[in-house]
Amino acid sequence: MASERGAERGGASGPAEGPGASEQAEQVEQTGQVEREVGVGPWEGPWPEGEHYDPELLARGDRRNVVDEYRYWRHEAIVADLDARRHTFHVAIENWQHDFNIGTVVRTANAFLAAEVHIIGRRRWNRRGAMVTDRYQHIRHHATVEEFVAWAAESGLAVLGVDLFPDSSPIETYAMPRDCVLVFGQEGPGLSEEVRRTATATLSIAQFGSTRSINAGTAAGIAMHSWIRQHARIG
Ligand SMILES: C[S@@+](CC[C@H](N)C(=O)[O-])C[C@H]1O[C@@H](n2cnc3c(N)ncnc32)[C@H](O)[C@@H]1O
Repeated sequence: MASERGAERGGASGPAEGPGASEQAEQVEQTGQVEREVGVGPWEGPWPEGEHYDPELLARGDRRNVVDEYRYWRHEAIVADLDARRHTFHVAIENWQHDFNIGTVVRTANAFLAAEVHIIGRRRWNRRGAMVTDRYQHIRHHATVEEFVAWAAESGLAVLGVDLFPDSSPIETYAMPRDCVLVFGQEGPGLSEEVRRTATATLSIAQFGSTRSINAGTAAGIAMHSWIRQHARIG
């Protein structure tokens, strides 16, 4: 496969310019790393054919944070390919105080191919932890819980609040609906009373130590993976 060949060669030359360049610059900014040789260099040999290939990336190399099979692909072609096979679960996170976990949630949602990420509350969020994955992820904003719940009902999605309430069902044994939206609360206040009241169910992740809770980004990863274990086609 083209991408593997490129990856093996390791490529040469400096950072790519052109369409992938701003994405790569953002990557460097978000990781705080000094730019280094990641990804693949310019394509060697006759160029592959196909509309999905980006001539600039073929010419200059592809240093983006994408899996090997998408090397040298145009950004729009990657998003279209992801859109064609997205899973049916969504994730939502409350953002009343600029939650710093949202970037992590977006990155994990991208990895597990969530349909969409929903931000409830403030529109602005810190993109640092997203590692530029937000460019490939549909993100929708809802100003209020009411707006979000109405959207979920219209979309035929079960709202599953994720938090450690005394009456939450253990996520480890809960049969998750295929079409659902997993909602996470913020550090500090946790899931809002409004979401708790309107949710189809609330789910807790079993803990065994002394801490009251785990980090919301970690909880989101575990919850998304619970859906994956029950519904995704593996292999
Ligand atoms: C750090 S917690 C909020 C703090 C918590 N209310 C407390 O009393 O310490 C932030 C969010 O992470 C998620 N979370 C953390 N630990 C969890 C667990 N064990 N089970 C389910 N969700 C959890 C929930 O979505 C929660 O709203």
